[in-house]
Amino acid sequence: MIEKLQQHRDDFDSRIVGVSSLQELKQLRSDFLGKKGCISLMLNDMRSLPNAEKPQAGKHINEFKQSIESLIKAKTQDLEKKSDQSSVGGETFDTTLPGRGEPSGSLHPVTQVMEEIISIFFSLGFSVKEGPEIETDFYNFEALNIPKDHPARDMQDTFYVDDETVLRTHTSPVQIHVMEKQAPPLRIIAPGRVFRCDSDVSHTPMFHQIEGLMVDKNVSFGDLKGVMDIFLQEVFGKQTRLRFRPSFFPFTCPSAEVDIECVMCSGKGCRVCSATGWIEILGCGMVDPAVFKFVDYDSEKWTGFAFGLGIERIAMLKYGINDIRLLFENDLRFLKQF
Ligand code: DAH
Repeated sequence: MIEKLQQHRDDFDSRIVGVSSLQELKQLRSDFLGKKGCISLMLNDMRSLPNAEKPQAGKHINEFKQSIESLIKAKTQDLEKKSDQSSVGGETFDTTLPGRGEPSGSLHPVTQVMEEIISIFFSLGFSVKEGPEIETDFYNFEALNIPKDHPARDMQDTFYVDDETVLRTHTSPVQIHVMEKQAPPLRIIAPGRVFRCDSDVSHTPMFHQIEGLMVDKNVSFGDLKGVMDIFLQEVFGKQTRLRFRPSFFPFTCPSAEVDIECVMCSGKGCRVCSATGWIEILGCGMVDPAVFKFVDYDSEKWTGFAFGLGIERIAMLKYGINDIRLLFENDLRFLKQF
């Protein structure tokens, strides 16, 4: 009996080493532990043993059975782990291949419009500059000719961090940073986030602007008009007509607001343009000599123009979006349309 048991044990040990699939392991299990497997047969054979030998034989057979079970269990786990790593449904594959990933998304409409505007100005020889989103009172107001007690400060609902620090309310301070570091002539645009304590269908506390600045000898209001013409006709189409209205900004003189003929009704008058046929699109003007003074530019020698516009506003007009807040809700049903 003991001899037979040893034979079975040797047989099992040599077979389990060669097992390389769950299928083969199943066969091995059935050969040893199945109804007609060798353990069952040995238990049957035990009946013919003398009674005195039965307990000892039973003990040996049971120990053998337990050791087989635990070896098969370990081998099963081992094979399952390997099959998770390299096969699905029996098929093997290279686990080092890169994944297929999700289909790529699209750029946010604000980013799309920002990139379009940047490339238009790039083609006109403007380069891109950036400035900080947290500004000092000096850059956001003072150096732009907006002194502490000036009523022009009321035009912008400011988030104050402390008495001297603000979340920038416009991208105009980048003008100052650039002129402080760079001598004229220069042509720059400055895209970026700005912040105002304001929220309704056409205002969000954070939005994007692009600032523009050109300084050179003999830059005139005619140059400003020419550049605005090219820019807005590139964005809204060659047929777009422009209108310059006199306005006030503390850092430009003379200042103007530019309207385009309403893109919704082509100037006939509709809800979007409040029946006027025109839509206000940006602010601009000739750089005020007082600003040049803050950055040590000689205003007898140099002149320049500046402009500033809201990117969301342009995106809304271009794509017919009627609520600015849709742009920041991250709703894929909305964003997938662009
Ligand atoms: N910074 C102004 C604003 O946010 C926009 C603006 C107006 C910028 C006229 C300019 C400018 O550079 O010349 O309301």
